[in-house]
Amino acid sequence: MSDGGTMRIVAISGSLRKGSFNSAALRAAKELAPDGMTIEIADISAVPLYNEDVRAVGFPAVVADLRRRVKEADGVLLASPEYNYSVSGVLKNTIDWISRPPEQPFDGKPIALMGASGGVLGTARAQYHLRQSFIFMNGFVMNRPEVMIGQAQTKFDAEGNLTDKPTRDFLAAMLTAFASWVRRTGAK
Ligand SMILES: Cc1cc2nc3c(=O)[nH]c(=O)nc-3n(C[C@H](O)[C@H](O)[C@H](O)COP(=O)(O)O)c2cc1C
Repeated sequence: MSDGGTMRIVAISGSLRKGSFNSAALRAAKELAPDGMTIEIADISAVPLYNEDVRAVGFPAVVADLRRRVKEADGVLLASPEYNYSVSGVLKNTIDWISRPPEQPFDGKPIALMGASGGVLGTARAQYHLRQSFIFMNGFVMNRPEVMIGQAQTKFDAEGNLTDKPTRDFLAAMLTAFASWVRRTGAK
């Protein structure tokens, strides 16, 4: 692992709003991470809209930093809302920036997906779109367990704490499975 034992995971939420259920779910994941795993949540609020002309001159500093963090991480955890049956624009935009050459930091990177939405399917459609994108980038997305937190407004309290016990247990189980996935598929 990256520093002689600790498995370092970088996490990105696909929602910028303060009360985001997806960001709250990542905070819960940070708490529930198994021993030996640390989860750092990256801030993508300053990532500009993708522009190839800008990239040709050089990655903006915020993007260069994200690319480095993904490259150096042992794995990536993404929490996306579902927007109009797909991934949120801010997350797709961030992934697009990170994915550009010369290096492609998602190539061979162990990835876990999760998501929370107000609907009953809990971002299923968004997650399958993400899976499709990662085929092109050769990201090693864990197949299961799939964490799809439906009717999120009933699972978190007003302060953004994940209060639903079955969801907490399931998220913890997913993170334990992800630790195994990182060990099986990680290049480091
Ligand atoms: C533009 C937009 C599109 C949405 N489309 C969907 C959708 O397709 N399916 C769904 O379950 N919820 C949809 N929602 C509701 C979101 O699930 C809900 O706003 C959720 O709280 C967003 O995640 P967040 O709490 O992390 O910001 C949509 C919300 C927005 C703003």
